[in-house]
Amino acid sequence: MEKKAEKLIENLEERVRFFSQLGVDFIGVSPASKEPSYPSLEEQILSCQMCSLGKGRKNAVPGEGNLEAELMFVGEAPGRDEDIQGRPFVGRAGQLLSKIINAMHFKREEVYITNIVKCRPPENRTPHVDEIEKCKAYLLSQIEMIQPRVIVSLGKAASDFFIHSRLGMTALRGNFSEYGGIRVMPTFHPSYLIRNEPNKILKKMVWEDMQEVMAFLDKK
Ligand code: URA
Repeated sequence: MEKKAEKLIENLEERVRFFSQLGVDFIGVSPASKEPSYPSLEEQILSCQMCSLGKGRKNAVPGEGNLEAELMFVGEAPGRDEDIQGRPFVGRAGQLLSKIINAMHFKREEVYITNIVKCRPPENRTPHVDEIEKCKAYLLSQIEMIQPRVIVSLGKAASDFFIHSRLGMTALRGNFSEYGGIRVMPTFHPSYLIRNEPNKILKKMVWEDMQEVMAFLDKK
């Protein structure tokens, strides 16, 4: 029992060190419940003007789902539909993501879904490095609050956030990495599957990756 407590404290210290090294200064987790600190983080995101994306957006998109989720999906940035609705993955790519989640025997509301950048870039371009940097603390705080067991990173931009590698997605996907003690599974972005609809092998690969995740989570 003592050993278990020691290990817990060690883990906690390691996490605090990890996040403070990254400059996160608004974690604010309440030990009794994770909920009280979440709305304030959401409010900060909704009114954020830390980068120029704040000026062009209709709505910031903090993310949504279960704050106790064991599984978290992280995409690149909100698109047009997400910007209008203020919700992540609600367009075509979102519908496909929902199907993938359901195929994994999860309900969409059981997982947590967000992006590395919370505001829509103009013309859906890939977010710039400085935009990702400015937005980083929000995602790190979400991860810290939710403490998922697995993060699925969707596409290259999200995977680069967690895994510093020159490899492309074809080489990266399907292999677990670790980020701050959390397993990260990189896989293709649903938009990429839609853009390459005739290539059924891509879908098969994503499904193989998700099966790895399900096996790790012991999801049947
Ligand atoms: N693509 C993303 O990366 N995120 C969304 O929320 C929607 C589309």
